[in-house]
Amino acid sequence: MADFAILYDRVRPDEKMLFDALDAAGVAYDKVYVPQLKLTFEQTVPWKVALERCVSQSRGHAVTRALEGLGVRVVNPSHVIELCGDKLATNARLAAAGVPTPRTGVAFTAEAALELIEDFGYPVVIKPTVGSWGRLLSKINDRDAAEAVLEHKEVLGGPQHQIFYIQELIRKPERDIRAFVVGGETIGAIYRTSEHWVTNTARGAKASKCDVTPDIADLAVRAAQAVEGEIVAIDLLEDPARGLLVNEINHTMEFKNSVSTTGVDIPARIVAHALELLQYA
Ligand SMILES: Nc1ncnc2c1ncn2[C@@H]1O[C@H](COP(=O)(O)OP(=O)(O)O)[C@@H](O)[C@H]1O
Ligand SMILES: [Mg+2]
Repeated sequence: MADFAILYDRVRPDEKMLFDALDAAGVAYDKVYVPQLKLTFEQTVPWKVALERCVSQSRGHAVTRALEGLGVRVVNPSHVIELCGDKLATNARLAAAGVPTPRTGVAFTAEAALELIEDFGYPVVIKPTVGSWGRLLSKINDRDAAEAVLEHKEVLGGPQHQIFYIQELIRKPERDIRAFVVGGETIGAIYRTSEHWVTNTARGAKASKCDVTPDIADLAVRAAQAVEGEIVAIDLLEDPARGLLVNEINHTMEFKNSVSTTGVDIPARIVAHALELLQYA
């Protein structure tokens, strides 16, 4: 039993890289497979610090909550998972912190959403507030498409789809920027390039090195601070008129395509940050 744990539910290449980085650091740690974990609030756990790496966001959030109740310092903490796991919550924090984002609105019925969309003007983007890998994103070019998507969400969608999250479409170049922030520092960035307007690598976009300019470094750190994120990936969009805008923040970031691309040993930096927390735990 060790005082450091890594919480996971699937060993992706990213988790393998983290295990290797922990082995290289020569520290004792427990690999905790969360689907088989059982916790009660009468028990004690050996861990002082845990690194949360679950693919399932709801599972990662729940296990973080439970372990925090047992006195474990989890990174990222549960309130960060809550904020980053919900695009609306992220936007609310970014707006309060004065961090530039695409123009964003929310409505709570299809009828009001249509009014908001017409107000924004076409094209707009509709996204689920909870989601990743570019799933269920809709680019709406006209009123017919708006009515169709809104009705589908209203009739076929669950409760989460009754929150209509609407954004202006940013006329970015054929790419976005993903900046990695660890412990308050922007350690590297990649471009994700695609002919499709959705530039997730999970959707086939290609990763390439992006030099971390002072603007990128500064904006990514401000975005991370707005949600108190310790190990986060910030998606940035380049608006031709306004410059860099923060699109979203990812709290259990994937980095396997980014280590050779950036030349930065991202897993080593993550592990170093998490292990540093042991001193304060
Ligand atoms: N408002 C927007 N304008 C232009 N492109 C966007 C906009 N929102 C999302 N995209 C594109 O879609 C991708 C996925 O959107 P994102 O909000 O990050 O959702 P996910 O959580 O699924 O990654 C972004 O990386 C970007 O390429
Ligand atoms: Mg994204």
